[in-house]
Amino acid sequence: MNQIKLAVLASGSGTNLQAIMNACSSGFIPGKVVKVISNKKEAFALERARRQGIPAVFINPQDFPNRTAYDFQIADEVEKSGADLIVLAGYMLLLTPEFVRLYPYKIMNIHPALCPAFPGTHAIKDALDYRVKVTGVTVHFVDEGMDTGPIILQYPVFVEDDDTLETLEAKIHSIEHRLYPLAIRLYALGKLEIRGRHIKVLEKDWKKYIEGDEKLW
Ligand code: GRF
Repeated sequence: MNQIKLAVLASGSGTNLQAIMNACSSGFIPGKVVKVISNKKEAFALERARRQGIPAVFINPQDFPNRTAYDFQIADEVEKSGADLIVLAGYMLLLTPEFVRLYPYKIMNIHPALCPAFPGTHAIKDALDYRVKVTGVTVHFVDEGMDTGPIILQYPVFVEDDDTLETLEAKIHSIEHRLYPLAIRLYALGKLEIRGRHIKVLEKDWKKYIEGDEKLW
């Protein structure tokens, strides 16, 4: 694949979208974001995309009779954009099985915990309340479950005794903003070998990038 085209689905502030757009601009991801779609009119992710001249569309779930019809509209937008990969970046709706089946190994998600621990929408708080000593970030392909798809990359974050929700969120997000662009880069470069649930990463030094060693890249 020469230049990968990404369709991003987002519901919120879009800091992961921003990291991905920045990585495309710098060439770290060999490709570009071709469309951003949101189920929330006020999502700041839409504004971030527009500022970069990227088509950004709000599709209102209330305009559709059911979730399947809504997701087919999303699929229509994705097809029109010519995207090779669908990237969920803080997208707060669970995709329907009908949609997921259209795109095997072509939808990525980022989850702010070490799957299969703490699925769902409050993963950082749930991990802190549980008082785990280690949590982290997972990038995975999307299957029909909630945060259950084949794992691409995971990276740990230690929970310190004095961590609050705010400090832990900050640590998790700073890892997310490196891990997600890296996963997309590896996909675009054909460095992910797919064997069912086992996603083999054909880049042995990838952790050094997350640790801050830019020289390798
Ligand atoms: C991130 O923590 C991501 O892991 C989760 O939703 C959050 C989105 O944040 N899926 P942002 O909109 O990218 O800032």
